[in-house]
Amino acid sequence: MQTFGWWARPTGFLDRCRRRYGKRFTVRLAAQDPFIVISDPAEIKQVFTAPPDVLHPGEGTRILEPIVGPNSILLLDEGAHMAQRKLVLPAFHGERMRGLESMIAEVTREQIDSWPRDELTPIHPRMQRLTLEVILAAVFGVRTGERLGPLRESLTAMLDFGMNPLSLLPPARRAPFGRGPWARFLKVRARTDELIYGEIKDRRDRQDEGGSEIINSLIAAYHEDGSPMSDVEIHDELLTLLVAGHETTATQLAWTIERLTREPRVLSALVEAVDEGEGDPYLTAVIRESLRLRPVLLNAAPRTVKKPVEIGGIVYEPRVHMLASAWLVQHDSDIYPEPYAFRPERFLESDPGTYTWIPFGGGRRRCVGASFAQLEMAIVLRELLRTTEIRAGAEGPEATRRRAITVTPGRGAETILTGR
Ligand code: HEM
Repeated sequence: MQTFGWWARPTGFLDRCRRRYGKRFTVRLAAQDPFIVISDPAEIKQVFTAPPDVLHPGEGTRILEPIVGPNSILLLDEGAHMAQRKLVLPAFHGERMRGLESMIAEVTREQIDSWPRDELTPIHPRMQRLTLEVILAAVFGVRTGERLGPLRESLTAMLDFGMNPLSLLPPARRAPFGRGPWARFLKVRARTDELIYGEIKDRRDRQDEGGSEIINSLIAAYHEDGSPMSDVEIHDELLTLLVAGHETTATQLAWTIERLTREPRVLSALVEAVDEGEGDPYLTAVIRESLRLRPVLLNAAPRTVKKPVEIGGIVYEPRVHMLASAWLVQHDSDIYPEPYAFRPERFLESDPGTYTWIPFGGGRRRCVGASFAQLEMAIVLRELLRTTEIRAGAEGPEATRRRAITVTPGRGAETILTGR
């Protein structure tokens, strides 16, 4: 019953458990060690700041290894994780991100111009296309030239496998004679790898370290012992960023549109703010409120207990998973009055708290793309509202639907755009 609730009705299930058992409870899913769901900010802080050898977030993401490769920052723990994270983080520093801004705006404009007007349009698939173009451009830049087309194609196919992790089940499930999803996956992966390694080699040969694109930042990154990142490391982190940065942002944007079109008061305040000029606090508040009310990942990455650890007065033994729930803490009426209302004003009054607003997780595993994602969301919303009027395709809110690990709008955020 718990497994069914968890997968089929994820938000309702979490709400119901909290009503029945309080802010902390245990969930037992078929064939897995127990998950301890926590939502008290003091306990979330303990989980996010526990020493790296005590809690291991990397263990829960192993299923992604065939896509992202063994060096991915997502899969590692302790020293190895921190070493990779230090190599990746400079790509997201303020100055580099500013260098990416005009490119993101350009890609966004092109995409939005191509969206249909005056007809019912599910906005989620459009956003998926848009964020894929943005992340490809941010990672590879525009100078990739003729490799970009084939790369887009093979990456889309790879990412589809990521959305259906069952197709990545271990080799025992492989179909014989090179058929079946696993064989197809291996073929797509070989093609993608060829393109990515080709791109890394070309850039090394050209000593092409200028530009703000992320691949250049990795080529220019050095380990603490002074050695450069290997091609394999660069490849693995690039795929990690493509996988982690595409679907999440698309879905969060789709939810933001879905919420805005149901809240005329918020929508008109936002349109007014956007019309008035750039860099407005109301837009930032809308984005934060969307991430609070509809976090696309309901929980931070599960942290597997490796050594006995005390959290909130209870000692947990190895193998159980600690799960800090963004959904629950962000819908806690002790912290957010009227937690189910879409009220961006709450973030005009105060900034989000480190342990009460956790759509990007926290501690040394906090999402490396958090600023990038919020910048991209701001650019997309500004561009969309500047050029179109948006309204809901149907009355009433869209239900939440689970899609792999994200929670998406049930009907794909059906919207009608009209030119302004
Ligand atoms: C709205 C969009 C996004 C959301 C809601 C989101 C959310 C998250 C969450 C919840 C985590 C786990 C953090 C934890 O357990 O403490 C995470 C990790 C991560 N995210 Fe994001 N993310 C988004 C966009 C992005 C983008 C655009 C990128 C890259 C370009 C990215 C790259 C990563 C990476 C590499 C990690 C792993 C960090 C580590 O393990 O050290 N994400 N993200």
